[in-house]
Amino acid sequence: MDFRLNEDQQMVRDAARQFADDVVAPGAAARDLTSEFPIDGFRAAGEYGFTGVAVPEEYGGAGLGNVELSLILIEVNRACASTGVTLSVHNSLACNAIFLGGNEEQRKRFLPRMAAGELLGAYSLSEAGCGSDAAALVCSAKEDGDDLVLDGTKLWVTSATHADVFIVFVRTSREPKLHHGITCVIVEKGTEGFRVSKKEDKLGIRASSTCEIVFDNCHVPKANVLGEIGRGFPLAMQILDGGRIGIASQAVGIARASIAASVKYAKERHAFGKPIASFQAIRAKLAEMRARTDAAELMTLRAAWLKDEGEPHGTEAACAKLLASQTANFSAREAVQIHGGAGYLEDFPVERYMRDARITEIYEGTTEIQRLVISRAVLA
Ligand code: CAA
Repeated sequence: MDFRLNEDQQMVRDAARQFADDVVAPGAAARDLTSEFPIDGFRAAGEYGFTGVAVPEEYGGAGLGNVELSLILIEVNRACASTGVTLSVHNSLACNAIFLGGNEEQRKRFLPRMAAGELLGAYSLSEAGCGSDAAALVCSAKEDGDDLVLDGTKLWVTSATHADVFIVFVRTSREPKLHHGITCVIVEKGTEGFRVSKKEDKLGIRASSTCEIVFDNCHVPKANVLGEIGRGFPLAMQILDGGRIGIASQAVGIARASIAASVKYAKERHAFGKPIASFQAIRAKLAEMRARTDAAELMTLRAAWLKDEGEPHGTEAACAKLLASQTANFSAREAVQIHGGAGYLEDFPVERYMRDARITEIYEGTTEIQRLVISRAVLA
């Protein structure tokens, strides 16, 4: 067993760190205030090869693995969680969906432009009546010759305001087992009968967009179906196994940023005639934050490594997301506490980290769903 990154992985991490510090971090606080979507950051990520990290080179990607993707996402999320989730959803849900479920024609049609950062991807599973119970979705698609005709509304679609390629799960039939009648289809921006509707106003990741999308007699060619009609649900789950590694990476990034901000503040801020970093109460917090964050990072990289090895990784991804999201919330909350009253102000980044961390326990499967997935494996 070797816990060291190899030379190539270190280079990728260093490049991501530089990208995060030079390109993503400046303006992160301002984007949070104005809810300005990080489209420039996404395009710039394309120039670094960060928009098709695990896409094979033959489809225009960087041809790297999920360990590298995780390292990149940790660094980017350290700087800005809104840019981080944009890259996570694009890479680990949208590109991954087309690579996993797509045929040769679909891969060639979409992946090169997505990997170049020209086309932004989104993933749409949830609806008003189905979040955790994903198989209960009702947004419908009826077969009509060579087309599917989509009708209905989907919710919580990350990046929808700027996305070009939407991976959408729809109900093509009502079977005794609900998850059997679900189909995955690619819907392109500009398709007649498809529109991005309400944009949500959120607690955190405010620069990322989260929207409702609406289909009204929307004809999509069957050539856009990923995999088989009626077999979309296992694909949704398989894709989410990878997505959860992305969100775990995001959580690790937020936790790392919380530690860095706390260390800086604790060394600068004086109380009772000394820097507060000299007090045991503060040191104990920093130690706990560091230990938990290291554990979360190791679990995240283990899940990514298993995925790269072609091994089952769903349980490990759920373990990583469970622990990392709790760690991000713990660390960001402690960071605010270390900053005292200053931590409650927009003048310091830690209140943003605390708001951003909250969603990591909710999207791509809540903490409760991760426990359900893990406990099924434990009991199996
Ligand atoms: N990989 C492949 N197939 C899988 C799978 C996996 N990880 N997990 C389940 N399946 C398959 C099963 O084998 C089964 O298939 P068959 O019947 O053909 O054998 C089928 O899927 C149904 O499985 P379950 O009986 O386990 O399904 P369930 O209804 O009990 O649901 C669940 C399981 C874990 C609760 C699932 O619904 C779930 O993960 N819910 C959470 C949904 C979620 O994470 N949503 C996130 C939305 S996306 C988002 O947030 C993105 C964003 O923009 C940031």
